[in-house]
Amino acid sequence: MAALKPKVVFVLGPPGSGKGTQCSNIVKEFGYVHLSAGDLLREEMSAEGSEYGQLISNHIKNGTIVPVEITCSLLDKAMVKHCSQVNGTVAGDALNSGKPKFEGNFLIDGFPRNENNLEGWKKAMIGKVEERFMLFFDCPQEISLERCLKRGQAGSGRSDDNEESLKKRLVTYYNDTLPIIKYYDSLGLVRRINASPSADEVYSEVRKLFLN
Ligand code: C5P
Ligand code: MG
Repeated sequence: MAALKPKVVFVLGPPGSGKGTQCSNIVKEFGYVHLSAGDLLREEMSAEGSEYGQLISNHIKNGTIVPVEITCSLLDKAMVKHCSQVNGTVAGDALNSGKPKFEGNFLIDGFPRNENNLEGWKKAMIGKVEERFMLFFDCPQEISLERCLKRGQAGSGRSDDNEESLKKRLVTYYNDTLPIIKYYDSLGLVRRINASPSADEVYSEVRKLFLN
């Protein structure tokens, strides 16, 4: 079987807008693979012997954005790994377990976060993947803050779920990420979801976008 060409849905929104929660619902129902740029960076940060550990850790604490070469290569590697597994056991296992089959669909969560992310992605990935749309979870700053602080208190273990880091993350979001969402919107590629209601209510809107 020829290797699958990855099909990508970008997932963006402020911190605490429910990107991760909704992505795991989509994975369960529609067989997407969820790649969170933040999770991949945290994994790389903790990997033994990683030359980028300190750099990533500083960016995460400060809510600033890691240079795209690092993030894009982590995303690229993860996509290649999943697509090559289709010929192996993963797709077969999914079939037998009744899980939805993986057909090369990826949710790329938390990317592209700024101009540098977007330019680096275009340079490295154009022609290698098919971009489908951008899922935009929109919610006001107060909800964003409240959810992340709660997540921190509930023991997320994240170095950036505290008030000081969150303020910085929100500045980055409004200054650097929103313009990227607006750019995709100008291309007619943004599907906006009101992310303020409960997770279940939000998902009932989200799933409609994946049904056909
Ligand atoms: O998406 P998440 O909230 O998990 O991201 C946590 C942090 O990871 C961000 O605040 C940022 O420091 C870093 N990150 C990044 N580039 C991305 C995604 C996340 O530098 N594309
Ligand atoms: Mg997340």
